[in-house]
Amino acid sequence: MVQVCFVFVTCFFLAGIVSSVDFPRVSTKLGDINGVYSTVSFKNREFKVKRFLGIPYAMPPVGKLRFKKPEPVEILSPNPFPADTFGSPCAQVDMFGQKIAENSLTEDCLFLNVYAPHQDPDKVTGHAVMVFIHGGGFSLGTGNTYIGDRLASVGNVIVVTINYRLWIWGFLDFNDERAPGNMGLWDQQMALKWVNKYIESFGGDKDRVTIFGQSAGAISVGLQALYPKNKGLFQNVIAESGSPTVMSLVKNINENIQPAAYLAQLLNCRTENNEQVFECIQKSDSESLFKAFKIALADPRLFWNIMFTPTIDGEFLKSSPVKLVEQAKTDAPAEVEFFRSLSFINGLNGDEGGMWIQMIDGTKESYEDLKLSQEDLDDNIIPSILPLVTASRVKDSNVLKSLISSKYKDWKTPYEPKNIAKQAVKLLGDIYFTVPGIEIGRLHVNGPNSGSYLYRFTAGVERHPIPTPSWMDLGNHADEIGPVFGYHLDFDWFGGIKGEYSPPEWEWNLSERMMTFWTNFAKYSNPNGQDGSNSWPKYTIDREHYLNFDRRDHVGQYLHADEVDFWRKIVPMVEEQCHDDKLSAFSRKSSDTCDAEGGCN
Ligand SMILES: *[C@@H]1O[C@H](CO)[C@@H](O)[C@H](O)[C@H]1NC(C)=O
Repeated sequence: MVQVCFVFVTCFFLAGIVSSVDFPRVSTKLGDINGVYSTVSFKNREFKVKRFLGIPYAMPPVGKLRFKKPEPVEILSPNPFPADTFGSPCAQVDMFGQKIAENSLTEDCLFLNVYAPHQDPDKVTGHAVMVFIHGGGFSLGTGNTYIGDRLASVGNVIVVTINYRLWIWGFLDFNDERAPGNMGLWDQQMALKWVNKYIESFGGDKDRVTIFGQSAGAISVGLQALYPKNKGLFQNVIAESGSPTVMSLVKNINENIQPAAYLAQLLNCRTENNEQVFECIQKSDSESLFKAFKIALADPRLFWNIMFTPTIDGEFLKSSPVKLVEQAKTDAPAEVEFFRSLSFINGLNGDEGGMWIQMIDGTKESYEDLKLSQEDLDDNIIPSILPLVTASRVKDSNVLKSLISSKYKDWKTPYEPKNIAKQAVKLLGDIYFTVPGIEIGRLHVNGPNSGSYLYRFTAGVERHPIPTPSWMDLGNHADEIGPVFGYHLDFDWFGGIKGEYSPPEWEWNLSERMMTFWTNFAKYSNPNGQDGSNSWPKYTIDREHYLNFDRRDHVGQYLHADEVDFWRKIVPMVEEQCHDDKLSAFSRKSSDTCDAEGGCN
């Protein structure tokens, strides 16, 4: 009798404890994982969400595994694994002036976070899953900034955010096993394999996975979608402001040895051959590499010398996406066929070029007052972008410079410095985002599968993740991230969106519309939902419809067709003409001569 009572009391007591430290637990083949509950509200509705934070999805890429492809985690320790705090962000560099604590440069960083709704899933097979790949120029950022629980609750999906290796740690390429290149992309893929293997334990449906990303994250989802061996890991793709068809983005291997050699010099190493360069980088800890970066960054002209981006490694990337677009005009390579088997939402913001303002004039305290003269545009900005956007045989051509200058001149108010700055923003936005963005959309829709959608985001939101002057009012780069995540972000670099920030009511409404489209797409491969109302018409090859997000959304057609024609048809034609037509009278008479070998200057 006493015994029974004792047991009864103890059990009761234990149950009491359990409810006061209530936490969700899942059992996976890796071991048990203890998460935390959180409560979020959205437009006066309250939701309970399960968070599982800081789960290692790959072995720490340190020691022997540094600069190598990731290796999977087979068992979690301790068991149960406490998934109640974020894991470390990956070591990174402050390319865009955001603050990074030098003591936070951790190379053991391959963690992911799972946000699961408390509600029942929409299908017996489980919740649709959305995996977010963050941006930051392949050089900075962390999945931890993007708190997935509002999106997970309002849309009733599972949201996963991930870290992947960045900058030299993620993209050093020596063309052999010492550093095979694209480690950051392999990390992303390892996280997707993890989701495929284990997300069912969290209530997820592994056959309804959407990858979405912004900026370099959008370029990343594009690259993952062009890698046929990823078949089965995801079905839907959302690219927010980024395409792998940016010219000069994907590099040849030897091009990524150059920045490594340059850093080795700054580290006072001998750099007579690749062996010495590798040895130097391998023996330098993350703090030393970061310091070398800071030295190089002090001179903005050297910026491009220290960028590490994806490379044509012969495995993940067999040829450049720019070439694939060319090839696909006559015959679809396997990469393009895989891409076309997936459903695709592709989008661009109105003022994408805003992120380059810091680079136009990194010394300016106030972006608000940025003023440019026509000479700045003609003599500095246009010549600096020319080698990046044209075929390599024409590095410098006065004909092309004049053509671009004329196209981007503000002819209505030619002496208004602010408007010249606006034109520069447009030029940079076009070459880095707009034109490649439309190009990848057309590549996708040009096949038999047409689950293809395009959006434009022009909402002048109150707060911006990156510095934005008030005259830029059509949606800067990254402005859609707030609405997509229900404003649950931790962007404190620029005093952006963090904590309990609450935007104006029309933005909450915009956010609800966007989250509904995004999560419908994750569930049904159609942003309009199961029954497919047609408020967001499909993007088709002849009609090119898109949905424009703003205070009030509307449908438009043929977005940026003009700029795509200019950069992908007119510019190459002029370039070709200059190269081939050596005898043309105009090129002989002008300073724009083409030499006997056909090289132009
Ligand atoms: C926001 O949406 C609600 C309905 O959910 C509507 O009543 C309200 O007028 C909208 N507000 C604005 C500013 O658009």
